[in-house]
Amino acid sequence: MTRDVLLAVEPSWDAPLAATLSRVPGLRVVRRCVDLPDLLGAAEAGLGELAVVSAGLRDLDRECVVGLQEAGLQVVGVHSPADEGAERRLAQWGVSATCSVEDPLPRWEEVVAGLGAAPGPTPEEGAAVDGPAGGRLDPLPEPTGRVVAVWGPPGAPGRTTVAVELAALLARRSETMLVDADTHAPGLGQHLALLEEASGLIAAVRASEEGRLDAPALAGCARRVGERLRVLTGIGRADRWPEVRAGALEDVLGMARRLVDLVVVDLASPVEDDEVLAYDTRAPRRNAAALTVLGAADLVVVVGGADAVALQRLIRSTDVLDPVLAGTPQVLVLNRTRRTAAREPELQETAERHLGRRADLLLPEDRAVVDRALLAGRPVVEEAPRSALARRLGDLVGLVDTRATMGA
Ligand SMILES: Nc1ncnc2c1ncn2[C@@H]1O[C@H](COP(=O)(O)OP(=O)(O)OP(=O)(O)O)[C@@H](O)[C@H]1O
Ligand SMILES: [Mg+2]
Repeated sequence: MTRDVLLAVEPSWDAPLAATLSRVPGLRVVRRCVDLPDLLGAAEAGLGELAVVSAGLRDLDRECVVGLQEAGLQVVGVHSPADEGAERRLAQWGVSATCSVEDPLPRWEEVVAGLGAAPGPTPEEGAAVDGPAGGRLDPLPEPTGRVVAVWGPPGAPGRTTVAVELAALLARRSETMLVDADTHAPGLGQHLALLEEASGLIAAVRASEEGRLDAPALAGCARRVGERLRVLTGIGRADRWPEVRAGALEDVLGMARRLVDLVVVDLASPVEDDEVLAYDTRAPRRNAAALTVLGAADLVVVVGGADAVALQRLIRSTDVLDPVLAGTPQVLVLNRTRRTAAREPELQETAERHLGRRADLLLPEDRAVVDRALLAGRPVVEEAPRSALARRLGDLVGLVDTRATMGA
């Protein structure tokens, strides 16, 4: 079987590598690409079966490696002999194997024979690909942490408020990370008075894209706001959403599961995936962040408002949400309940009739207490622990435990 090779490396490596590869039995170099677009175009056109890329190829990142694999190519990464960082980065991007640019012909023969027909490792498994001198890079700790996504329909029903309160409560007993993954209207930093410009999420996804995301690196991107609570602040300016690519966010969540026991993620409302109809299927998608988190979540807390408009939005949203969740356990919260809008039995009756289930938790409207907490930049459960709102919020932890069997 002869495999067609697309070679895309820095210019000084091109000629020697082309010469070596053309001597490997079963390989035929069909294209020496001048740059990344050339490589992606050739892959898209079905010209190759194996891509040999170098870590230093301009703009090469995880998304490109995944794109090549999705186009049906296996990917081998090449790095300088002693550049362990580049080797690790390639491995984390999920290439099938790595070689040094100075490796002799027998090593290439061995690598190509080992490729078989198997697809490349997933990016997470990639971290255990062969390390320097044929050794193994350090294995990662087990991803035992759970992900709780907080979602709700449009109209600001209180997703961020609930996410902040839930994370603060969980952090009383477990290592917790609160992540702002809202790619439409990020605002979590405001709730906790974390107002500086730097975005923790963007730093983390960038570290992932560059293949240097490990548990200490993720911890470095987050702000510690309590003994057991870390916060990954959001994208800051909404127009930075294209920087949050799905693959990198998935990687960040995977690493967060390794760093903490519970990961609470605040999301934007839109989950429609109609952007996939776009011509350029590798273009970033704004709703991909919410879809990625919902797809990865162990539990979803759905937050709806408690008046006629908010309830209707909640009911309509389930058509879009249900296929995305595909059976993931949920906790339903109706927030900002007030007698002037609807009494609690009426709310439950509406939920039962239109959603087929009662709300698990009703949270009262309390503007004064919420404003006080916002001004202090602290959760309500800490700022006003004896308020009716804080007492009801306390029930959230038990619900989360039961639904996702998270243990105490
Ligand atoms: N129970 C409550 N009582 C009074 N005010 C509340 C309550 N819950 C949330 N709020 C207020 O409602 C507003 C919207 O809340 P929040 O930011 O949590 O909503 P969201 O769903 O995250 O909205 P966005 O679409 O902006 O992300 C905020 O001013 C918040 O302080
Ligand atoms: Mg919000």
